[in-house]
Formats: sequence, C-alpha cells, structure tokens
Amino acid sequence: MRSADHSGHGPAEPATLDVAAIRRDFPALTSGLAFFDGPGGTQTPTPVIEAIAAALGAPLANRGLDNPAQRNAEQIVRDARSAMADYLGNDPSGIVFGRSATHLALEFARTLARDWTPGDEVVVTRLDHDGNIRPWVLAAERVGATVRWVDFDPATAELDVEQLEASLTPRTRLVAVTGASNLLGTIPDHLRIAELVHAVGALLWVDAVHLAAHVRIDRTALRADVVVCSPYKFFGPHLGVLAADPDLLIGLRPDKLLPSSDVVPERFELGTLPYELLAGTTAAVDYLAALGQGENRPARLTDAFGRSAASEHVLRTRLEHGLRDRGATIYSRAARRTSTVLFDLPGRLARDVSLGLAAHGVTAPAGSFYAIEASRHLGLRDHGAVRAGLAPYTDAADVDRLLNALDDLP
Ligand SMILES: Cc1ncc(COP(=O)(O)O)c(C=O)c1O
Repeated sequence: MRSADHSGHGPAEPATLDVAAIRRDFPALTSGLAFFDGPGGTQTPTPVIEAIAAALGAPLANRGLDNPAQRNAEQIVRDARSAMADYLGNDPSGIVFGRSATHLALEFARTLARDWTPGDEVVVTRLDHDGNIRPWVLAAERVGATVRWVDFDPATAELDVEQLEASLTPRTRLVAVTGASNLLGTIPDHLRIAELVHAVGALLWVDAVHLAAHVRIDRTALRADVVVCSPYKFFGPHLGVLAADPDLLIGLRPDKLLPSSDVVPERFELGTLPYELLAGTTAAVDYLAALGQGENRPARLTDAFGRSAASEHVLRTRLEHGLRDRGATIYSRAARRTSTVLFDLPGRLARDVSLGLAAHGVTAPAGSFYAIEASRHLGLRDHGAVRAGLAPYTDAADVDRLLNALDDLP
C-alpha cells in the first residue's frame, strides 16, 4: 500500500499519497525531467505499460467466444467497461470507447443533432476546451439551431452561472459545460447547473477530460447526462471514454456499418476497439485505485482521490506562493479549482518562459491548450500563458526546480 496512514491521536491530518513510492513506478521520471504537463497528458506507470504489452503478447483476435484469442479480446473489453464504470460512477453498459474525447463529442453531436430543428438552442461556455465547443457549434449550424454563449469572469475565473440560467429556454436541447477548465483549473458548480438544465428538459454534457484526473467523478451524483474523459490524462493510454445512462444511448441512432453490432454501447463504437489500450485503461484505473484504501474499487478510488487532492493542495500552495513572490500573474483564481496553474511573468513572453524552463529540464508548456475561447477572453489572445499542472507523481523538489528555473531565465 503506497498511501500514508492515519496514526496517532487528535484530529487526523488528511491522508496524502506516498509520492516517493509512486515516482518509482514511472520509468519516464528516470529521464530527470520535472513534469508539469499532466493536463496535456500524464506519464505512464509500469503496470499500464506492462498491461498493454501483455494484451498484445497473448493470443488476440476480434471479440468472440469461440477460441482463446477471441475470448481474450472479449474479456479485455468487459474489464475495461467495468473499470471505467467504477471510475465514472456509471453502469458498464453506458460506457462507450472512442478514439478521443474530441472524436466522441463530434460523433455524438452529429447523432444528437438529428433530432434538433431550426430554432432549437444549444448552450456552450467560453471556459471550455474547443473539443466541447466546436462539435456543438458545428452541429447547431448544420440544422439551423441557435448557439448561446456563457462567459466566465476573467477577474475570478468563475463561470457565470446566472448568465447560463438566463440562456436557458424551453428550446434548449443541450448544455455543454466543462468539468474543469484545462486552462485555468476552474471547477464550475455542476449540481446547480444540472438543476437548471434539467428544469428546461435539456441534456447536460460534461467534458470531464481535465476533471477526471483530479476529482472522483460519479456521473449520477453529478447529475450529468453524459460525461467524457480521456485516460491519457490519468496514467492511461490515448483514447476517449464516454459515460451515459444506457437508456439515453438506447434512444440514439448513430451512423454505423450494416454488419456491426446494434446493441448499446457497441452501436457507438466504430470499427475494431483498441484492445491493448483498453487493457492499459483497466490497469490505469487499478493503479489509481491501489493508491487508496477501501473495500472495493470504487471506495479505493474515492480514498485515492482524497489523498491525491490533499497532496496536490500542499504543492499547489507552494507553487502559487513561489510564483507570487516572483511577481507572476496567476490567472487560476476560482474558489474551486484543480491543481493546474496558469501564469505569466511580467515583461516576458510565455513561450520564452516555457523554453527557459525546458532548458532546466522542466516541462511546463505555454499556449491556449485548445481552450482558445478562454484564452481570448482572458486577453491572452491565441498564445495563452504558461501552464503548470500537478500530478500524483509531482513532488516538492519538482516545484522548487520550476521556481528556481524561473530565477535563472536568460
Ligand atoms: C478539458 C479538455 N477537453 C477535451 C480535451 C480533448 O481530449 P482528447 O485529446 O481526448 O480529444 C482535452 C485535451 O486536452 C481537455 O483538456
């Protein structure tokens, strides 16, 4: 067990992660780099790498039950659906795998829009990654539906929920909102949003690609109709996962090939699934679950996320203090936010800062990270700012390296 234990008497400190032990599981950390680009994609632990290799090393064919190779593929898919169901608080039969979260959103937008008519409305936010904006804008344009935009306040980085409420009408068909901003870390008030959205009978689509790496997600508790995420943001391989109520999926008719399965969720999975990546996804969920304690995998995941949040909070505070001491502008200001910090240094281009950090072996890129509307709304145009994101393998030495490297910029 890698986690620190509660011990002693009196009020218990929140349990944290044993970061030193975690770091030993990530071969990429032996490169000596300090990784702050988790929001772009985390590094991969050995059990995930081994699970991918094992899937490809064992007999493997298309899914079926007739021979061991088919049965291996079948088992891999079942295991991955069960793992992601635990990860996202969903029924396994409502878990859909796709190429990426972007691909899933584009495909589902096309499918959902078949039911939309001119004058229907969709709501998107400027806080979102473009992967949860453009699919809805394009789908709306195609059928003559109206797009309503919700802003965030650059001074607080908070989504304007009142504006969201004012954007809703009986014609609203879908509201697409971020689980957490991949640029600023802001976590909007999903429960309030769900209440408002469902009051007008619309669907709530939550892009949890950034959130799923930091917060324990339960789609039903979140009251979202659909949640999407991408395992490569939480130690897994590169693919996308969608979680929805199976009853919602049963009512949708996507484009599909004639001989492919018409059952849910297979109906939505185009072509052959990437079995080796699914095996890696299960291993990533199991790896994260093993960082916590509890009677079953969902309970261990909940505990692991609690520990991770406690560890990341300490490091985020250290990072933000260090940045402020150096006169940085920190754009990540929301009351509830992930450990992803967007910043600029006075008088310096963000890209120069990022390159200066890279010269010291610190990976913290600059950009808008496809949250292009958010970047523009912050006044950062399309070049954005520097993003430093913490992951469960980040330690205090990494944070100090980043801060010291800032003192040493050319
Ligand atoms: C918040 C958010 N949404 C969507 C995406 C797109 O995910 P994918 O790469 O799986 O398409 C990202 C990727 O960075 C993201 O951070």
